[in-house]
Amino acid sequence: MKDDLLRIKTEALAGIAAAADTRTLDDVRIEFLGKKGTLSQISRRMGSLSAEERPIMGQMVNDVKDALEAALSTRKTELAKSEMFAKMATEKIDATLPGIAPKLGNRHPMTIVTEEICNIFIGMGYEIAEGPDVETDYHNFEALNVPKTHPARDEQDTFYVEGGHVLRTQTSPVQIRKMEEGKLPIAIVAPGKVFRSDEVDATHSPVFHQIEGLVVDKGINMGHLKGALTLFAKTVFGEDVQTRFRPHHFPFTEPSAEMDVSCFMCNNDPEKVKTCRVCKQEGWIELLGCGMVHPKVLARCGIDPTVYSGFAFGMGLERMAMQRYNIEDMRLLFDNDMRFLKQF
Ligand code: DAH
Repeated sequence: MKDDLLRIKTEALAGIAAAADTRTLDDVRIEFLGKKGTLSQISRRMGSLSAEERPIMGQMVNDVKDALEAALSTRKTELAKSEMFAKMATEKIDATLPGIAPKLGNRHPMTIVTEEICNIFIGMGYEIAEGPDVETDYHNFEALNVPKTHPARDEQDTFYVEGGHVLRTQTSPVQIRKMEEGKLPIAIVAPGKVFRSDEVDATHSPVFHQIEGLVVDKGINMGHLKGALTLFAKTVFGEDVQTRFRPHHFPFTEPSAEMDVSCFMCNNDPEKVKTCRVCKQEGWIELLGCGMVHPKVLARCGIDPTVYSGFAFGMGLERMAMQRYNIEDMRLLFDNDMRFLKQF
C-alpha cells in the first residue's frame, strides 16, 4: 500500500508538471484527488490494515494529499498567468468602437438666468444673500414701510400662514435681514422664490422668482443706482440697449422709479415699433423697480440715515427667462416637461 501511495504521488506530480493548460490541470486534480480519485480509493483500503499500521498510513495519505494540493496550486497560478499573457498578446482593443455616452442633466432655464444675473452683480463686487421663504409679517411688510392698514398690502395678494407669518410676497425682506445684521457697507443681490395668490395663466403663477439688490454706504446716491442698473442692462441686452427711469412709488424707497429698457425686438425704431408685438407698440419694456432706500427703513434697521444712504432694486426673473428664450407661456417653466427642459 505504501508503494502504491508513492507511485500515485510520482504519477500525479508528473501529471501536474505536464499539464499544459488549466483545464488539463483540473482533470489531473479530479483523477487523483477527486471524490472517486485514486487517493480516495486507497484510503478506502485502510480498513484492512492493522491498528498499528492505520495511523501511520493515514498520516502518509495526508502528506501525499498535501504535497499534491501544493503542487496543483503552484501550477495553477503559473498556467493562469501564461494564459493571461497569451490572451493579451492576441486580443486587441478596438479604440474606434463608439463609447457609451453618459446621460447628462442640464440646468433649468430659471437657474441659468438666475446664475447669469447673479454673476453680473458678483462682477461688480456684490455678494449673494438669502432669506427664508416663510417670512414674518414684520420683515415682509412692516419693516418695509407697509403697516397693517397700508393700501399697498392689497397689491400683493398674500398667503398668510399661522403664527403671524406669510409666504414672502417679494425678496425685499432680505434687505431688512441684511441691514439688521449691522455690518456696513452692504452690496448684495438676493435671488429666490416669492409667493402671491394669483390665478395661474400664461403670465402669472402663485410662485415665481425675484432678485433683489441692495447697496448701503456713505454717500450713495441715485447716480450710483442708475450706473449699476444701466451697466447690468447693457451686459444682459447688449451695449446698444437704452435705459429709461420712470418715477414710480414703492413704500420702501424714496424717490422710487421703474427702469425700462428699449425693446429688444423693435429696438424702439420709429417704424418697426408701430407693429411690434413684444413691446405692444411702446418701444420700451419694463424691467424692474428701484429707488433710494427710505430713511425710515434704514432707521428701523438701526442705520443712521443722516450718515448712510442706499439704493435698492427688485425684478421678476420669469419674465427675463421668457424674453431671453422666447417662451410665450410661463407655465412651461413650472411644468417640468422633459421635452421642454432638455432644450436648454
Ligand atoms: N419688491 C418689489 C415688488 O415686488 C420690487 C422692488 C421695487 C424691490 C423697488 C426693490 C425696490 O428693492 O427698490 O414689486
